[in-house]
Amino acid sequence: MATNRTAENLPWVEKYRPTTLDDVYGQPEVVDTVRRFVHDGRLPHLLFYGPPGTGKTSTIIALAREIYGKNYKNMVLELNASDDRGIDVVRNQIKDFASTMQIFSKGFKLIILDEADAMTNVAQNALRRIIEKYTKNTRFCILANYAHKLNPALLSRCTRFRFSPLSEESIKDNVQKVIIKEHLTISQEAESALLKLSKGDMRKALNVLQACKAATDGEITEDMIFESVGAPHPKDIETILDSILKDDWSTAVGTLNRIKQLKGLALIDLLQGFVEILDHYELERQTRASILEGLGEIEYAISKGGNEKIQSSSSVGVIKQSLELQ
Ligand SMILES: Nc1ncnc2c1ncn2[C@@H]1O[C@H](COP(=O)(O)OP(=O)(O)OP(=O)(O)O)[C@@H](O)[C@H]1O
Ligand SMILES: [Mg+2]
Repeated sequence: MATNRTAENLPWVEKYRPTTLDDVYGQPEVVDTVRRFVHDGRLPHLLFYGPPGTGKTSTIIALAREIYGKNYKNMVLELNASDDRGIDVVRNQIKDFASTMQIFSKGFKLIILDEADAMTNVAQNALRRIIEKYTKNTRFCILANYAHKLNPALLSRCTRFRFSPLSEESIKDNVQKVIIKEHLTISQEAESALLKLSKGDMRKALNVLQACKAATDGEITEDMIFESVGAPHPKDIETILDSILKDDWSTAVGTLNRIKQLKGLALIDLLQGFVEILDHYELERQTRASILEGLGEIEYAISKGGNEKIQSSSSVGVIKQSLELQ
């Protein structure tokens, strides 16, 4: 049987990818400005930068659709700038694309360069020259997570737009649309947790929602959201902190390990949870500093491959000792 590539089996991030600029949530300044550029017929080279899942790729593709309509394929070249075959491949593709230009239509072509911040400095320099060479009939849109990783000479050739993490409100608008279209039932708490845990990343919100939907035919609960994100539930963090405060050391370590195992969590996620929850505790300045310093060291040790068991015990030690300073 032929596989059915209908919207039904697409990942929701693709199924619900904005098709027009009006479908892009939470980036009104960017959308308004680029639309004005197009309307005035003076589109500059663009740089879109900001954290993952905020709509950079979606916005440029929707813009290109608006400009070119069914001519999109002839007029737009999408490249991954970090292509491991190197800048020469990128250069050749751009050259081929830009020089076949006039056959199809007048007006400029658009080259979208994704992940430009992963390019080496040498490659970025080469790109700078390429942009200059083809400016007459081509516009570039550079996409990156970090502007500071881009060469200043490259930056100065582009009009920059920062894509901020999306507000919970913007994520909610999209999530609620998907909830209705997919006929999901989700508890109020689960929805709030989803918005909060997505941390401004729409891709993450949709992926988590789809993972939860795959796991149940019934209502999506708060626990399912936490589990799918791999984040600890605040009440589990409270239980561990309570045990650290009230119980002896080995009981507290036992509590931490039990919850960690039961919920399939990594220590690194618990550390983040500790910091978030302790933010709401009234602590002496010295206590807070000492906890953060200790947990920071543990986080570093984990990133360097430190033993998870030892670091787990050590984090109980750090928090217990610091709280006893109070
Ligand atoms: N502002 C937004 N409005 C609507 N949907 C969005 C928005 N941002 C992201 N999405 C959703 O998340 C998916 C990924 O977004 P997109 O590819 O545009 O992110 P990005 O900013 O380019 O991220 P990355 O830095 O990882 O490349 C899209 O397919 C879309 O479903
Ligand atoms: Mg992208």
